[in-house]
Amino acid sequence: MCGITGYVGSRRDAGSLVLEGIKNLEYRGYDSWGIAWKVGESMEVRKDIGKISHLDPAAFGSSSSLAIAHTRWATHGGVTRENAHPHLSCDGTIAVIHNGIVENYQELRDELLNKGHRFLSETDTEVVAHLVEEKMKQTPDFGAAFRKACLRCEGRNAFLALHTQSQTMVAARTGSPLIVGVGSDGYFIASDSPAFLAHTRTVQYIDDGEMAVTDGRSILFYDIATGEERTKREIEITWITEQAEKGNYAHFMLKEIMDQKKSVARAVNQDEEQIRTIAKAIKNAKGTILTACGTAHKACMAAEYFFSVIADKHVNVISAGEFKLYNHFLIPDTLVIVVSQSGETADVLEAMRIAKAKGSKVLAIVNVQSSTIAREADFSLPINAGQERAVASTKALTGQLAILLLIVYALAGKLQEGKKLLLETASAINDLLNPRYVERLQHLAEILKNKENLYIIGRSWNYPMALESAIKIQEVSYIHAEGFAGGELKHGPIALIETGTPCIVLAGNDEATPDILSNATQLKARGAFLIGLAPERNEIFDEWIRVPDVGAAQAIVNIIPIQVLAYFLAVQRGKDPDMPRNLAKSVTVK
Ligand code: M6R
Repeated sequence: MCGITGYVGSRRDAGSLVLEGIKNLEYRGYDSWGIAWKVGESMEVRKDIGKISHLDPAAFGSSSSLAIAHTRWATHGGVTRENAHPHLSCDGTIAVIHNGIVENYQELRDELLNKGHRFLSETDTEVVAHLVEEKMKQTPDFGAAFRKACLRCEGRNAFLALHTQSQTMVAARTGSPLIVGVGSDGYFIASDSPAFLAHTRTVQYIDDGEMAVTDGRSILFYDIATGEERTKREIEITWITEQAEKGNYAHFMLKEIMDQKKSVARAVNQDEEQIRTIAKAIKNAKGTILTACGTAHKACMAAEYFFSVIADKHVNVISAGEFKLYNHFLIPDTLVIVVSQSGETADVLEAMRIAKAKGSKVLAIVNVQSSTIAREADFSLPINAGQERAVASTKALTGQLAILLLIVYALAGKLQEGKKLLLETASAINDLLNPRYVERLQHLAEILKNKENLYIIGRSWNYPMALESAIKIQEVSYIHAEGFAGGELKHGPIALIETGTPCIVLAGNDEATPDILSNATQLKARGAFLIGLAPERNEIFDEWIRVPDVGAAQAIVNIIPIQVLAYFLAVQRGKDPDMPRNLAKSVTVK
């Protein structure tokens, strides 16, 4: 989940280049940061705990043409300056940064300690710097020694390292993403392209089991296991990659919520022939399984209702972390749909690979088009949300819902009807997100900000949105929030309700409405403070937040006021909604 980036070439500002780059990867982790750059024949290192955003790139690495930088999400070893990357070899000529977990690090560390290496941190990463140093005693070539070190490391990893004496940068991928940016004056290597998009849109992908070695003038790729050279195509990034800027917004989360005025329509703008082909594949498949994590998983759960209600089709939804337990149901005729904003989530990637190993076809609905999932899937549909920087997923979710609904309408033979509904929904969202509406939610956040618990109920596709509402509120405001299916209340959760307990009721104008209102009445009878999110006011609501009536697309509009509410709850409680504690945007560890 860490962010890594590096540069080697003829420029003399490598330190500032990588520092600028790593700021664009801070969404991958923000426990600590670090940078190493070569000056003359020696290495300079700076690292610290906390966020990197406030650092001035100009203060780093003048007259350097080789540098690496890291932003950390801690796995092994606490959040301390010592544990921040880069980690160095004993002689100080090798610096290593890392994303992943070296599972056998303890064994390697003991071995290296016996050989006299000194360790300064508690991390698994540091063993790699010492291991390469040790290998260089027999194999002085840095790239070759690095390959040998990689062969000893178990787990899913991405390493980036520099060696001052040979002016070389080496990257190795055994499970976590790495991408090369081919510049006019050198090479960038990073865990994601935003690290270098300001300098080049020409990329080369390092695939799993491969490494790259560059001195800034040329780059060579190798198979880690065999040492054989690999040839790589250069690819131009042509899809939307606008560098996310906050503009006048205080936080990316609010900016990305507001982006939904346009992004839902962009999600709907898919190649119709491709949508029909996918609908046909679902019709012909012997079983369709949707899988994802977190917020994207809630989109899949909502889609399960779309498939049932609109297309009369049963599909299965499995949380990607549990997918392998169901692998024996997979056959070549199964269609697996994976949904992911980042396209790098470890559990989703693993689910996809399990499905492919069983011969099943995989459709990926992904926002980041350069991601591993988008590239490895048999078919891929872009969410077209634009870069999502805040940890809380907002515009990616509504895009995912829109695409899934479009597929379902196509499956029901009503693609144009679905498209019309979704475009009307997109336009309703544009109207909804006006300053008065946002202020109303800001005011509601004032009322709720000191509550300890908050419950959300829904039925049908609003049930997964109740679960998603809880995620949104928990992750940015740290208020304890839980979502329930309206019908389940009386089987346990209703015991939690006391006078004044805030409960949000997600409703639409559909067959589930009378039942959810009846559940709301049961809460009211126990003293709950009811906040209704519904197209129509109801006398039982203490507060009513109007949402447009958009029929089968209700899940898409109902989640938007919750996103705004969660945002204001975070801000009013003094929390940073873009970088909530303990989380990272892209979860590349299992
Ligand atoms: O990148 P992905 O969509 O695969 O990420 C999945 C989850 O990690 C993600 O949705 C997470 O739950 C969000 N932080 C929630 O807002």
